[in-house]
Amino acid sequence: MLEARKRGESRTRVSLDLNLTENEVTLQSESILFPTGDSIDWKSIQGISENETNCYCVVENALKAIKGFSEFSGRVYGLMPTTSAPTMLISGIPMHRIKDTNPYQDTLSKIKAIAPVKGDVLDTTTGLGYTAIEAAKTAGHVVTIEIDPMAQEIARLNPWSQALFENPRIAQVIGDAFDELERFESGFFSTIIHDPPMFSLAGDLYSLAFYQRAFRVLKHNGRIFHYIGDPQSKTGARITAGVLRRLQEAGFRRVIRAPRAFGVVAYKE
Ligand SMILES: C[S@@+](CC[C@H](N)C(=O)[O-])C[C@H]1O[C@@H](n2cnc3c(N)ncnc32)[C@H](O)[C@@H]1O
Repeated sequence: MLEARKRGESRTRVSLDLNLTENEVTLQSESILFPTGDSIDWKSIQGISENETNCYCVVENALKAIKGFSEFSGRVYGLMPTTSAPTMLISGIPMHRIKDTNPYQDTLSKIKAIAPVKGDVLDTTTGLGYTAIEAAKTAGHVVTIEIDPMAQEIARLNPWSQALFENPRIAQVIGDAFDELERFESGFFSTIIHDPPMFSLAGDLYSLAFYQRAFRVLKHNGRIFHYIGDPQSKTGARITAGVLRRLQEAGFRRVIRAPRAFGVVAYKE
């Protein structure tokens, strides 16, 4: 919009939903006029262009950063733009890979690691819902669990997360995946996607007890994809070694590294 203004244009096409679709906006002398009838002054538009970590929505001619403090975790959650799907920052840490890839490609590589995804699927940690949404394209039904209501609030404002709220084949649960797993019958799920926060933030989701619970709710021949982090990094390599050992201890016989997806796949055989 700033570039179109410099070129002296009176209208231009831009994406108002973070790269999903395009709309025409009108460039006025003092402000931008959106198709909704809302308008935002040029100084604010300049401010947005200088901020690389926030996404904004326009509400009644005013800008609102998509960001919030979670009373539950004491952390700040916010939506951060990329050239593809946005990611969520939790205390400044992106919840998807953004280096040399983007959140959408990151999601596809996780799903590819356990494809074909069919039957009843458990997505242990919702986040922005990208893995749940992608899994629901081929699965019969997806249950996805999120511990922090603020993460769900941010997802609600994210255009890329809308299927989470609209697809009837996705059921959302607010709770702790560690406890919620106890509610499901043994052998209920054919696939589990386990994409936890980093080890230092959620150690219980990397514990033997958690893997035993995941093993119980998986069907015979079911499998779990477990995101861990860069296997080439010193921490990633150390954590991967521990995860492989504990998954085997929990009963998974075949445990295979999936380095492209920064994780491992384990089979209940
Ligand atoms: C890496 S993100 C998941 C990203 C998600 N797969 C996606 O595609 O957008 C991890 C999420 O797990 C949530 N979380 C942390 N501990 C949890 C727990 N014990 N049970 C369920 N969710 C948890 C965090 O709030 C965060 O939203």
